Amino acid sequence: MNEEQRLDTELVKPSLEKSAEKDYSQYFQTVYTAPSLKEAKKRGKEEITYHNDFEIDERFQGMGKGRKFYIRTYGCQMNEHDTEVMAGIFAGLGYEPTDTVEDANVILLNTCAIRENAENKVFGELGHLKPLKQRNPDILIGVCGCMSQEESVVNKILKTYDQVDMIFGTHNIHRLPHILHEAYLSKEMVIEVWSKEGDIIENLPKVRHGNIKAWVNIMYGCDKFCTYCIVPYTRGKERSRRPEDIIQEVRHLASQGYKEVTLLGQNVNAYGKDFEDNDYRFGDLMDDLRKIDIPRIRFTTSHPRDFDDHLIEVLAKGGNLVDHIHLPVQSGSSDTLKIMARKYTREHYLELVRKIRVAIPNVTLTTDIIVGFPNETDEQFEETITLYKEVGFDIAYTYIYSPREGTPAAKMVDNIPMEVKKERLQRLNKLVNDMSAEAMKPYKGTIVEVLVEGESKKNSKVLAGYTEKNKLVNFKAPQSVVGKLVNIKITEAKTWSLDGEFIGVVEKEKVML
Ligand code: 5AD
Ligand code: SF4
Repeated sequence: MNEEQRLDTELVKPSLEKSAEKDYSQYFQTVYTAPSLKEAKKRGKEEITYHNDFEIDERFQGMGKGRKFYIRTYGCQMNEHDTEVMAGIFAGLGYEPTDTVEDANVILLNTCAIRENAENKVFGELGHLKPLKQRNPDILIGVCGCMSQEESVVNKILKTYDQVDMIFGTHNIHRLPHILHEAYLSKEMVIEVWSKEGDIIENLPKVRHGNIKAWVNIMYGCDKFCTYCIVPYTRGKERSRRPEDIIQEVRHLASQGYKEVTLLGQNVNAYGKDFEDNDYRFGDLMDDLRKIDIPRIRFTTSHPRDFDDHLIEVLAKGGNLVDHIHLPVQSGSSDTLKIMARKYTREHYLELVRKIRVAIPNVTLTTDIIVGFPNETDEQFEETITLYKEVGFDIAYTYIYSPREGTPAAKMVDNIPMEVKKERLQRLNKLVNDMSAEAMKPYKGTIVEVLVEGESKKNSKVLAGYTEKNKLVNFKAPQSVVGKLVNIKITEAKTWSLDGEFIGVVEKEKVML
């Protein structure tokens, strides 16, 4: 910290308690309270309070003057979007972004807890950051995101990673100015993790990544408690944003020229279930959003259990609602699904797929699958293979089961050796690759509509973008088409992407109201 920055910090010091108590006093903790899965599990149906009064206390303004921040994001789109919010808060405080840790005054790791290897990457990165902190003790290193919600992780960091200056949870993001402020003043690690989920805070600032595609939260948390999953504990109970706030955000993005919006929630199909005063649900929201003049609306992620007929009916209206649904199945065996507490059977899933295909004949389905769940037999795994073929998924994200401390599955005795799990994953991945290649073949010779995102990651002379069904397409075209919808004639179909020739820019008709 240089002298000027130190002065800035001291200037804000006297007002800390007051400003913190002003808006969110009931939650304010300067004293360390460990996050607790036990506490998180006890949650009930507490009422959600909506706040529209987020503002950066004027006494914190200028805190970032002459300072730079760097955020590394792990995990899902929800985390990516949280990073956009934190970048917005940093910008509000006067910090500049940087894309190298060496250049940063504040480094945040926005972490993911979904599997052990995601966590190991973070601990590895903290190890790499230690020499940097030793060379420059004035930099602040913070751990936030889903791992910070785990008691065991916080304890491990406290014990072994003294290079960390602050830990804050997924419900504490809006408290970033206060947390930074405290970290500048304190020699101790600053920890602020609420076990109980936060309220909904509407007007948080955001610095979005790019100006073509945007993420929009529609709900937070998850109440499903699948036995393998840490998310209900790290992200708290289900709470939906009000429709008018979502609609306004999407309208605003459309007016700013964004071409695609992805609606985010851990289980978007449960949208609105927590509303006590109305029965407005996800289908109603999609029906309202499709009337907004923005070319593409996606959503992720779906739970088959809550995927109702009204939603199918609305999605079938098409327009800007894309004909691609990501529908995680996890397993093809009803017995395994039961122990996973997925609350549907193989038959129910297949029936849902049938209904979707009848209503949207052109639909593309993709999925998530876990192999090697505790005691999964060969026969049960075989049922996953047959279900995969029967549904005809385009793509799947496949994972070996990873025990997560505090979840019910982590306590199950598991008699399946890791070697067997790995073999199963390989077999499944071979099928996934083969079927992806098959799904790509029919594209050869056709013309597809592509939203151009920019240069291809592999070849800067080539542009890349995605179709409505989320297929990656590479082609040569003038740089001026970036951000536009273009027609591309497919010349080659590969396993994971398509190559094509640029035909022209799509002149979109206005979406019908
Ligand atoms: N082990 C392995 N995979 C998991 N997933 C969630 N929890 C676990 C776990 N404990 C997978 C699921 C989910 C995806 C995001 O991650 O397939 O849909
Ligand atoms: Fe990872 Fe789940 Fe947290 Fe996303 S919500 S960052 S997938 S643990």
